[in-house]
Amino acid sequence: MSPFQLTRTLPVDATDAALRADVLSGLNRQPKTLPPKWFYDAHGSDLFEEITRLPEYYPTRAEREILVARAAQIAEASGARTLIELGSGSSEKTRHLLDALPGLHTYVPVDVSESALRGAADVLLAERPGLSVHALIADFTHVLRLPDTPGPRLVAFLGGTIGNLLPEEREQFLHSVRELLSPGDSLLIGTDLVKDEATLVAAYDDAAGVTAAFNKNVLSVMNRELGADFPPGDFDHVAVWDPDTEWIEMRLRARRALTVKIPEVDLVVTFAAGEEMRTEVSAKFREERVRSELADAGLRLDHWWTDAAGRFALSLATAF
Ligand code: AVJ
Repeated sequence: MSPFQLTRTLPVDATDAALRADVLSGLNRQPKTLPPKWFYDAHGSDLFEEITRLPEYYPTRAEREILVARAAQIAEASGARTLIELGSGSSEKTRHLLDALPGLHTYVPVDVSESALRGAADVLLAERPGLSVHALIADFTHVLRLPDTPGPRLVAFLGGTIGNLLPEEREQFLHSVRELLSPGDSLLIGTDLVKDEATLVAAYDDAAGVTAAFNKNVLSVMNRELGADFPPGDFDHVAVWDPDTEWIEMRLRARRALTVKIPEVDLVVTFAAGEEMRTEVSAKFREERVRSELADAGLRLDHWWTDAAGRFALSLATAF
């Protein structure tokens, strides 16, 4: 059998349909909202890569520090023969895990981007000729069907992306992950942690303006994909910390009253001067919340590891 397989579980036009549905429902409500997944076209993905190298954006470096320090323990505790990575992207971080898992049978990267999956698999297969890679083109927030590969399974969801889910979505997500696992299988999850407001806000409002460009990129995506006429220069990037929900919100604030046409969904939307549209929630966590949300989903938190500065955590949980 070829060491590389690719399974598409999403219809080719699913992304387009989902964008239309999200724009229709999100821009027809008050306050207006858009889900953060629409930042990530090719340009947005490049901007995100640039964000991960900014001095203010610590999560990527902090998580890498933990992965490097704990990869052997993760391998030992999970005994994984199949590694499933949700939202794998370039699979860059996964290399640390793969190197620590010599007994791994199959790596299953899951992403909506076929090009990212193919690119990552090419690099990995060149480095690890013995490995079999079964990539899934899928939206991990939907129900997944995994290939029939040997257990134990380890599902990895890194980068703090779980913070982009709203509390109800998160609960649903953890339950559906639990359904992919048998008792004894593991989940490895990266979460950014609650900390002082100045550090958090700076991470989402960097001095060089890269995050601002990333945020406004969603307007360019709607202009290109839906024929909209958002004037990106008429919106300001806003990042606010909400101490009650313990999440960062990114918003786009209209600098003046605007009327925007979105022909492909037959929509005309108006913005009042100063009106804010929410484009991302990035929740920050504490150990107790992570432990209890995992437990509610049938997952026992066995290891909680942070970087030396205590900014970010990796949790390793076992399905019970
Ligand atoms: C990749 C979703 C974890 O929420 O920190 C970075 C995305 N948004 N800067 C995050 C992001 C603004 C990032 N995640």
